[in-house]
Amino acid sequence: MAKIKAAILGFGTVGQGIYQVINEKREDLKKSLGLDIEISAILVNNLSKVRPETPGVLITDDFEDIINIPGLQVVFEGIVNEEPAYSYLCRAIDKGCHVITANKVMFSKYSIPLQERAKSRGVFIGYEATTAGGVPVIKTLKNLLQVNTVEKIQGILNGTSNYILTQMRLNECQFEDALKEAQELGYAEADPYNDVSGKDAFYKLMILSALAFGKQPNWNDVKIIGIDDITLEDVKKAKKEGLRYRHVAEIVQDEDGELYASVGPQLVGSDHPLYAIDGVNNAVSLDTNYIGTLTLVGPGAGSLPTASVMVEDYAEIIGKRAGFFITI
Ligand code: HSE
Repeated sequence: MAKIKAAILGFGTVGQGIYQVINEKREDLKKSLGLDIEISAILVNNLSKVRPETPGVLITDDFEDIINIPGLQVVFEGIVNEEPAYSYLCRAIDKGCHVITANKVMFSKYSIPLQERAKSRGVFIGYEATTAGGVPVIKTLKNLLQVNTVEKIQGILNGTSNYILTQMRLNECQFEDALKEAQELGYAEADPYNDVSGKDAFYKLMILSALAFGKQPNWNDVKIIGIDDITLEDVKKAKKEGLRYRHVAEIVQDEDGELYASVGPQLVGSDHPLYAIDGVNNAVSLDTNYIGTLTLVGPGAGSLPTASVMVEDYAEIIGKRAGFFITI
């Protein structure tokens, strides 16, 4: 059986999840795609770090070892921050590789040029994992945009923040203790500043904006507030009043095509659609002209939910349906 040669860039929470899911689903993928997948190499930061066994896989800290693999066809990327991720993906695309990324910091800024580059090379970019973890919001949006127009997007886009707010309310624990748990569970970023400051949710909102509206608002015009100033006393007081804190990201397009976005905590009552979304879950409501409001809910972070949607992207790109992929 022919093989697809793939590489993984980054071997933290996301990279290790990809390796695990591919190994667990290899036989099923062979059956559905008629092709096997071989993880040829993994790019790591620090060669001396202890990590899970990966027999037969080249482990390297030099991207040149990866990009020069003969016949490399797919690159999974689970690095944090813009660079060197963007440069690596540009080189992979130029070499003719499909790329599948979870990197929201990079993709929020470069989604449009990266997709144009991919289009010109005849390769595909999978980016479901950049936004809302295991919630299939990107593929849902791509499908419904073929007929519907999106008017507004509202949701909880950071699993760590929602987990912290939930733990503070249910267990009356301090912010720092809840954050530590979120880190131990693999929900938070390596540096959790982006999670609790609202920036992570902002990046995801900008990715949704580029897809839903074909553009983004001016980043400087978007007010971004995190959950880092919410105290246990605030949460307890809200609870007594029957209210809950939710960290909400929203964007709306007015009749003139102008976009208005904001990211920040809101106090919501039991009549609010986000009231019941607890734990690491994310929720995304899409207001559309024909369907009305569609809400997707599910785990917004974590190694396996994130990795599984990246492997779904792989299956979609490599599979027969690749010809129907839409690029913006
Ligand atoms: N740190 C992110 C979150 C991971 O908590 O939502 C998923 O993007």
